[in-house]
Amino acid sequence: MPGMYEEASNRLIVALDFPEQEQAIELAHTLEGRAGYFKVGKELFVSAGPEIVQRLKKTAGVFLDLKFHDIPNTVARAVTASTRLGADMITVHAACGRKALEAAVHASRDAGRQMGVKPPVLLGVTVLTSLDEKTAAEAGIETPLALTVKKRAGLCVQSGLGGIVCSAHEVSDLRHELGPKTLLVTPGIRLAGTDTHDQARVMTPGEAMRQGADYIVVGRTITASDDPVGAADKIISEIQKSIEPPQ
Ligand code: C5P
Repeated sequence: MPGMYEEASNRLIVALDFPEQEQAIELAHTLEGRAGYFKVGKELFVSAGPEIVQRLKKTAGVFLDLKFHDIPNTVARAVTASTRLGADMITVHAACGRKALEAAVHASRDAGRQMGVKPPVLLGVTVLTSLDEKTAAEAGIETPLALTVKKRAGLCVQSGLGGIVCSAHEVSDLRHELGPKTLLVTPGIRLAGTDTHDQARVMTPGEAMRQGADYIVVGRTITASDDPVGAADKIISEIQKSIEPPQ
């Protein structure tokens, strides 16, 4: 079916977790046409500087994953600066509260309007998946964690964010809770039979999509592979199967 490959590859976000700008750019060129977005996290952003976003924009969309968590004025200004830089997706931490989340939404819309571009999609981070019930409780986060995730995801949507970053194991509950319009973006993805690295609970690309994910985030399965193009193609083929209408 024409266009299906493109639609499937557009749903793949590759996390460029590298310390050097050149490594990230080289891989982005190698993968051009195989990823809808490249994710720039704190390591790459801090070491390469903001120009990495502009350089990557030549190959695909950019997901700027800096998880802004601050007072409303600071979050809004950081979102304005990210929008001006050209980020297409931006993460904001739900724990900064309704006012900061709403300020982020207004800032992205205003900056988009001033630049004459579509505003970026703001994605809420609910609870870091590295926390378990014990370490979350220790940090003063309300448990059971599933409840906090649900509450914060709801707050993000009410505040006008476009989506949520969540683990594949949260996708089906959140999809049920938030309806079809909220974008669900899911890391912790592994091809069947490959190294899980430090991820505690993983899911395959096909499973995550069938559970209701709109985009999947893949890092080391591609970036640490001897054959990144082959790994990306396997993932895209799984995504494609999961979104193809039944024959
Ligand atoms: O290498 P791997 O596929 O595990 O990388 C996943 C990416 O998604 C990393 O950039 C990681 O920081 C990010 N991420 C995650 N779990 C979350 C949120 C983000 O693994 N809950």
